[in-house]
Amino acid sequence: MAVTQFEPADARRCFPCWDEPAYKATFKITLDVPSELVALSNMPITGEIVDGSTKTVFYQESPVMSTYLVAVVIGLFDYVEDHTSDGIKVRVYTQIGKIDQGKFALHVAVKILELYEGYFGVPYSLPKLDMIAIPDFAFGAMENYGLVTYRETALLYEEQHSAAANKQRVATVVAHELAHQWFGNLVTMEWWTHLWLNEGFATWMSYLATDSLFPEWKIWTQFLSESTAGLRLDGLAESHPIEVEINHAGEIDEIFDAISYRKGASVIRMLQSYLGAECFQKSLAVYIKKHSCSNAKTEDLWAALEEGSGEPVNKLMNSWTKQMGYPVVFVNIKDQKLEFEQTQFLSSGSKGVGQWIVPITLCCGSYEARNSFLLQERSASIDIDGTSPWIKINVDQTGFYRVKYDESLAYNLRSAIEGQLLSPTDRFGILDDSFALCMARQLPLTSLLKLMSAYREEQEYTVLSNLIDISYNVMKIVADATPELMDYIKQFFIGLFKHSAEKLGWECTQGESHSDSMLRGEILTALAVFGHEETRKEASRRFQAFLENRSTPLLVPDIRRAAYVAVMQTVNSSDRSGYESLLRVYRESDLSQEKTRILGALASCPDPNITFEVLNFILSPQVHSDFFNFKI
Ligand code: BES
Ligand code: ZN
Repeated sequence: MAVTQFEPADARRCFPCWDEPAYKATFKITLDVPSELVALSNMPITGEIVDGSTKTVFYQESPVMSTYLVAVVIGLFDYVEDHTSDGIKVRVYTQIGKIDQGKFALHVAVKILELYEGYFGVPYSLPKLDMIAIPDFAFGAMENYGLVTYRETALLYEEQHSAAANKQRVATVVAHELAHQWFGNLVTMEWWTHLWLNEGFATWMSYLATDSLFPEWKIWTQFLSESTAGLRLDGLAESHPIEVEINHAGEIDEIFDAISYRKGASVIRMLQSYLGAECFQKSLAVYIKKHSCSNAKTEDLWAALEEGSGEPVNKLMNSWTKQMGYPVVFVNIKDQKLEFEQTQFLSSGSKGVGQWIVPITLCCGSYEARNSFLLQERSASIDIDGTSPWIKINVDQTGFYRVKYDESLAYNLRSAIEGQLLSPTDRFGILDDSFALCMARQLPLTSLLKLMSAYREEQEYTVLSNLIDISYNVMKIVADATPELMDYIKQFFIGLFKHSAEKLGWECTQGESHSDSMLRGEILTALAVFGHEETRKEASRRFQAFLENRSTPLLVPDIRRAAYVAVMQTVNSSDRSGYESLLRVYRESDLSQEKTRILGALASCPDPNITFEVLNFILSPQVHSDFFNFKI
């Protein structure tokens, strides 16, 4: 098959053009291809002339568009088709034999197109939308106008062998790429400096759409994993502002990173929660209409939002997009006063010189009454009722900053977590900020471990998933610094997670939530990694049953990764059977998600000889380059 990928600056390698996003043009494409193959491009086919073994295919002329969005795909494909309520033809293409795996994405795409037409107040601008699964695709997906390309794991879904996490990945990637059809394709960034408008916005929008289609997934809680990844990268002294000067085509690739995507999405969320959802949507619709079929800069978006809200959006947001980094806000309580002071957070532990306009929100002892103000200077103080049992700053974690509480405030919050008085997002935030402060040597490790103990009863997916991640990090630190404490720390984590794991068990219960299905796999994986004997034994029993029968109810997709990882923990040079069996399952599966799951588990073996073999296997032609970049 043949597939193009032009973003950011490779259309010039295919045809002569002014290959910059602001030079929009119409495209009328003609292809000469072998007659038996399917040939797709951005626009629908208008005619074909077959001449023996080749054919010439003609396509409708496109509306004005940027060169990086032009695409053609040629190969042997099958498709499923549906249409939106206003008649836009939507198709999902796959390799022959895999078409059933495309049905879920098709359903999602139709619903999301309809949703976006309503949200943006502008119809989808092409007569058709094709989405196609490409084996060996380098990125997750690419939003070519009317012809979106995906790696298989991001588009294909199979009830029998895909996990809940795979389903969610397909929905969010489709939502992301379809958001670009408006934000990016219809209204395009003026120059690559404003790439974040495309990527940050599509990332934020993918949560909005997924939440609307699958409210039971509570996806906005999971948004915090985007923010924390943005905060992590942006805490480095080597970070960069959201808006970066780009002087050479080679520099563009550098900014497809967590700053453009995740910090970008996070500052949009911060602004939306400051302005209110309704005002935000109305102003966006105005912005999209105004710049349709044209280009826009970051200031154009701020101007629309400023006009719609009457708030000083430009001034507020410049402090977040034009300088790198973010603040840590120190909070002290003194009598009836709360004192706030911001400094730039750096993960190295040193203090930066940045200063921001910080939308501070707080709750005192209950979620009923919220307080908010803009912290415009280095420090500020407000009067409060000093008798509140707890005070939480950055309510629901919608702000892109960290908070460091004084000892008494931190103590009260820990009690509130134990008493299950705080929302999942706030429980996440307190933990995540403490971990970051600990890594930056602003909080002792013992305080972090004490706080972690407060999460023994935790049941919420996003919070536990972060707790597990933090445990892995702490384990690595202990392994390097004080290996003699390894057994102790592993037992500590087993103790921490055992309660939640026991509650979930190995079997999914009827009608259980999407996030419980995801959580089960992650928590069992953690117990296996920390060396919990019963978990390893049970995993091995279920894995054996799976080897005998690939559709055994004992190893449903959501717990497969846990079982595979558990099996790999005990593999070594003298007992290789688990490893060999996993390789066999890998070879026999035709589902990319299954293959990716296995590769991730293979790499978790603690025996260095096996790890070396795994590395060689992964680099061999048996493993498609598709999987190098480990993505679920
Ligand atoms: N426009 C990007 C694809 C892209 C990435 C092109 C880097 C050129 C360089 C696309 O919209 C995208 O963001 N893809 C993501 C997946 C997405 C769901 C976060 C990707 O490929 O990782
Ligand atoms: Zn994107």
